Amino acid sequence: MLGLVRVVRVPLRDRTYSILIGERLLSRLGAACRKLRLGRRCAIITDTNVAPLHATTVERSLKQAGFESFRITVPAGEPAKSLSQLEDCYNQLAARRMERSSFIVALGGGVVGDLAGFVAATYLRGLPFMQVPTTLLAQVDSSVGGKVAVNLDAGKNLVGAFYQPRLVLCDLTTLHTLPQRELRAGVAEVIKYGIIRDAQLFERLERQLDRLFALEPAVLGGVVSRCCEIKAEVVGQDETEGGLRAILNFGHTIGHAIENSFGYGRYLHGEAIAIGQVAAARLSQAVLGLSEAEAGRVEALLKAAGLPVEVRLTAAAETRLLRAMQLDKKVTGGDVRFVLAKRIGEVVWGQRVPAEAIRTVLRPPTTAQRSRGKAVCQP
Ligand SMILES: NC(=O)c1ccc[n+]([C@@H]2O[C@H](COP(=O)([O-])OP(=O)(O)OC[C@H]3O[C@@H](n4cnc5c(N)ncnc54)[C@H](O)[C@@H]3O)[C@@H](O)[C@H]2O)c1
Ligand SMILES: [Zn+2]
Repeated sequence: MLGLVRVVRVPLRDRTYSILIGERLLSRLGAACRKLRLGRRCAIITDTNVAPLHATTVERSLKQAGFESFRITVPAGEPAKSLSQLEDCYNQLAARRMERSSFIVALGGGVVGDLAGFVAATYLRGLPFMQVPTTLLAQVDSSVGGKVAVNLDAGKNLVGAFYQPRLVLCDLTTLHTLPQRELRAGVAEVIKYGIIRDAQLFERLERQLDRLFALEPAVLGGVVSRCCEIKAEVVGQDETEGGLRAILNFGHTIGHAIENSFGYGRYLHGEAIAIGQVAAARLSQAVLGLSEAEAGRVEALLKAAGLPVEVRLTAAAETRLLRAMQLDKKVTGGDVRFVLAKRIGEVVWGQRVPAEAIRTVLRPPTTAQRSRGKAVCQP
């Protein structure tokens, strides 16, 4: 029995596309691609963890629908978003004589989606591509909205494009093989959607967090769909981040700086933005009058999801973190701008915050908190 399939549209005029969300959808990819009138040949770009778990199902589905596919498997992890990996993908496409009518399937987490999406955006000046996200983070965030990129040594996502997929297929069943730590990291982005746009979603998460972690189809399907709807609505109004799209960066200004100054790999992105969201909630209290009670709920929910909510820094580490924030590519004219919450469910972007206020929210916790036993981290 195939479960319910929810459909969310991303409204972008002639580039409008659908996000399909449901259980066991991988086996329906071929049929979904057929409706898009694509060429017969495609490349599946995936990684070394996802390939043995899910690639065969995708290949079988494509074959049944009359497509001829071949697989490009990249190493799992962030280093795959590199120029050398990109070149390797181009060479494999060239060796297989992929044509303008051929298409690309990105099967994996955000790393594969960003890399394969950039390959699709640039090879032969653009091939159609399908996002088949297999992490929670990718299903609710990176697969939707068309940001694709690779990294340079100088920083993350520095070479990229806005290039929309033709279809996003979120198979909730794939999350059953996802490591728990990765699932938690995805939940940090889910919580973000509640804070920025939907107080009811936030409340639902407070009530149903256990059921979400148990991957109960009704709860998971409802939550993933709602997050996709919010992202679709925001991207539909502001595709290239001229304004509104910035709200998706709630918790990310400090989060990115943490990732950056601790070195990538120490904290997962979701973990860093969990800390960033708590800091942003505290800044919101100071700057916008967010209530103590609501700031407390933000922290409590992230904690309940098993995510870190603070980072103890030495003075030198704190300075490095502030410098990393200044270097973030989204900083305009030297000012660090924040997305801050007025209340849960409503945020404003472009908020200028004095460095001293940032230092205050990052300050080591009180003696009482310290006695609960937190280690000092040195990036
Ligand atoms: N384009 C955007 O808008 C956007 C938004 C947010 C994040 N990102 C990017 O996304 C990336 C992070 O994505 P991520 O968190 O999905 O990381 P990821 O792609 O590295 O996946 C996390 C880990 O889970 C493994 N994995 C994936 N699916 C699995 C499954 N179903 N079962 C078992 N293992 C599985 C992967 O191999 C990897 O080891 C970053 O590079 C970030 O910059 C992009
Ligand atoms: Zn994020």
